[in-house]
Amino acid sequence: MYIMKRTKIIDLLRGELVGQQVLVKGWVRTRRGNKAVSFVALNDGSIIHNLQIVLDLAKFSPEELTLITTGASLSVVGTLVASQGQGQTVELQAERVEVLGAADPTTYPLQKKGHSLEFLREIAHLRPRTNTFGAIYRMRHHMAMAIHSFFHERGFFYVHTPLITASDAEGAGQMFQVTTLDLENLPRTEEGAVDYKEDFFARPTSLTVSGQLEGEMAAMALGAIYTFGPTFRAENSNTPRHLAEFWMIEPEVAFLEIEENMDLAEDFIKYCVQWALDHCMEDLTFLSEHYDKELIERLRFVLAQPFKRMTYTEGIEILEAAVAAGHKFEFPIYWGADMASEHERYLVEEHFQRPVIVTDYPKEIKSFYMKLNEDGKTVRGMDVLFPKIGEIIGGSEREADYDKLLQRAQEVGVPEKDIWWYLDSRRYGTAPHSGFGLGFERLLLFVTGMANIRDVIPFPRTPRSAEF
Ligand code: 4AD
Ligand code: MG
Repeated sequence: MYIMKRTKIIDLLRGELVGQQVLVKGWVRTRRGNKAVSFVALNDGSIIHNLQIVLDLAKFSPEELTLITTGASLSVVGTLVASQGQGQTVELQAERVEVLGAADPTTYPLQKKGHSLEFLREIAHLRPRTNTFGAIYRMRHHMAMAIHSFFHERGFFYVHTPLITASDAEGAGQMFQVTTLDLENLPRTEEGAVDYKEDFFARPTSLTVSGQLEGEMAAMALGAIYTFGPTFRAENSNTPRHLAEFWMIEPEVAFLEIEENMDLAEDFIKYCVQWALDHCMEDLTFLSEHYDKELIERLRFVLAQPFKRMTYTEGIEILEAAVAAGHKFEFPIYWGADMASEHERYLVEEHFQRPVIVTDYPKEIKSFYMKLNEDGKTVRGMDVLFPKIGEIIGGSEREADYDKLLQRAQEVGVPEKDIWWYLDSRRYGTAPHSGFGLGFERLLLFVTGMANIRDVIPFPRTPRSAEF
């Protein structure tokens, strides 16, 4: 028997196969028509557009036809023809239809058009079948490809850093503990403390907040590396920009100082944005029409502008001047304070009206590994701030001096026994080096124009929410 090969809808819509018999498989988005003919919009995920299937009802059994409802999966053989109707260039005149899986219309939740994003979050297992989430999933893929391509082209090596760790890279302490101890019946030491000798790793461990520390070890041998993996933070921030599980890209480069680190970050983001424009125009057009009219214009704008570079101290002066001129912020702002998202967005959206890179932060609000400036007060950290998002990248030049690094670790309470191996890299062949972390979902927020980070990751993990 001759078995026909399935053709994807993205290839059928190119129109080159008009006149040929083809096999197509997908899911019904809508069905409309009259007593004689039905028009089925079929989608197979290969592209945002549907293929119109024309069913001459006289040719099919009524039992089969009743199963062709929204959500059902079909296998259709037919002839691809130029479309007479409006809204599509080709359509499929069905000759054989098989319902692979029915979708009971009395319970299938994606009936009407235009469900709210909030509702779709409650059915995260089915939302990939909407146009919106199809577009977002495809764009996630394309951004991952862009990232690997950018670094590969520049001779960076992709390094896999561990997810389970005994050290707290950021020193922020908001980690998820990993244990196999029985929480109902904890082993105790003689002093009454939990006896971690009994735990799986014979010590307390957590899910990592960053692959940076291990990434640095690789950079000090391979020269230029990047990580791209999941990271976990147990911070209880229920905001549209925070996830408890998110993906981070962390390049780390030996012999690179802060200025070049900024160049790398700017080139990197621009490359990703350009990739979206080059590879995702159909999805971008859909997202722009439905969620964010200025999306494509904003992407082009970011490409055209050099990012504004300034110090934290200059940023604070601008913010203080704004307050003096009557601008109201929710959180107080003064030299020494951590900038909140509202402050970052003021600098980007109102003051400079383009992306901003802020450097030289007070050491107290940054991690212990950042290189201390000569003033003894500020460190060579850098945050890249973006419109609608605030911080999209955080990075720094690293402290390469053993004594200074150890001192900062002690000052902020990172135990030497946890990072002895990290300190070793400054004892043997230390060199200036720098790197940064890009939040993958923050990048996706920017390129998709979505407003809530829960909508740019397939199955979001946030406080009190891990259903799927
Ligand atoms: O600024 P962060 O904490 O930097 C680091 O983790 C460094 N180790 C990076 C480095 O230098 N290698 O985080 C980096 C980025 C942030 O700028 C933000 O985009 C993202 O990660 N991010 C989050 N994204 C989603 N949800 C969260 N809870 C996030 N926390 C940080
Ligand atoms: Mg940060």
